[in-house]
Amino acid sequence: MDVPFYGHVRQYHNIQAEIDANIQGVLESGQYVMGPMLKRFEKELANYHGMQYAVGVGNGTDALWLAFQALGIGPGDECITTANTFFATAEAIWIAGATAVFVDSDPRTNCIDPAKIEAAITPRTKALVPVHLYGQCADMKAIREIADRHRLFVIEDNAQAAGARGDGFRIGELSDAACTSFIIQKNLGCFGDGGAVVTNHEHVDRTVRRLRNHGSDKRSCHSPGYNSRLDDLQAGVLSAKLKHIDEWSAARRKWAARYSACLKDVETITLPYEKPGYYHVYHLYVIETKVAAHRDVLLKFLNENGIDAKCHYPIAIHQQDGYPWGKGARIPQPVTHTERNAACCISLPMFPELTGEEVDYVIEKVLEWSRTAGAL
Ligand SMILES: Cc1ncc(COP(=O)(O)O)c(C=O)c1O
Repeated sequence: MDVPFYGHVRQYHNIQAEIDANIQGVLESGQYVMGPMLKRFEKELANYHGMQYAVGVGNGTDALWLAFQALGIGPGDECITTANTFFATAEAIWIAGATAVFVDSDPRTNCIDPAKIEAAITPRTKALVPVHLYGQCADMKAIREIADRHRLFVIEDNAQAAGARGDGFRIGELSDAACTSFIIQKNLGCFGDGGAVVTNHEHVDRTVRRLRNHGSDKRSCHSPGYNSRLDDLQAGVLSAKLKHIDEWSAARRKWAARYSACLKDVETITLPYEKPGYYHVYHLYVIETKVAAHRDVLLKFLNENGIDAKCHYPIAIHQQDGYPWGKGARIPQPVTHTERNAACCISLPMFPELTGEEVDYVIEKVLEWSRTAGAL
């Protein structure tokens, strides 16, 4: 059996009539950029988050650095984040001209460890940039408390956790801006690139709106900005998909529960940890081999058996070739858990449209490998 890593086409087929109708509507409207479908989707997205503002931009990386820019973060400033994330988190900090400061992650959630943040704060620190890694919220209550104590901004990298919740908090409400990516593989993904900034700050909304559109909020009037707009066709796709995001999160959680129940006795791997009271939406279901040398062996075994398992992320940002490329970067303390996560992680197939047979086949193969792992 072959088990794919993504189910984009299955998802499209399941709601094809809704997506096609929105695409057709945009095509017939004659308004493809900054048109009524974008406006509609922005309103729906803000409502979904229970937030005042949502502004669609070209991609998740732009969402981050445009938010930084709107908050006045730039050269000379430091932003604290983690190195076990997709490269774009740090890249956005560098695009804004700031310094990325990497602290270690929590060994169980792999999100930023709030206990490591304060030791990294200097007079130049301007913002904390937690990533809701793999679909589980970082500990935003602790992060907000630290930010308040040191008068820092908080910008959430929410590329991976659409629909997730924390213990008594929602994404966006404890930060200055939550930035998301709609690239196809995300839990809420369009058919290309897209992103958004969600915020309760009118100033952030207004500034990102202006920056994304050549510094203009009125025809023919400009100040320096960029071109980074979510186009109306993608907004139409996202508007159709947003109605399904909660049922898709529930399906992801069902498959995660099945993986976890059936793999819980495998001594050679560690399973994902869901914090009590949190609603993890399993953008990725990431296991870790307890022995780093096992990771590539298990990955190869799964791949050779038709299972498209992957790694997120096998090379942490500070381990990339050429780091830091002349950019501002600082690692004040060892990042041991980040490095363990990079060395040991394997993402099993995870998407709402998986079938029970596919999930059971993946489980069967991990169990089969585990029976031999002791002898490797
Ligand atoms: C954690 C994280 N941050 C930022 C991004 C950047 O988003 P994009 O690819 O839409 O620029 C991604 C995904 O690609 C991501 O996973």
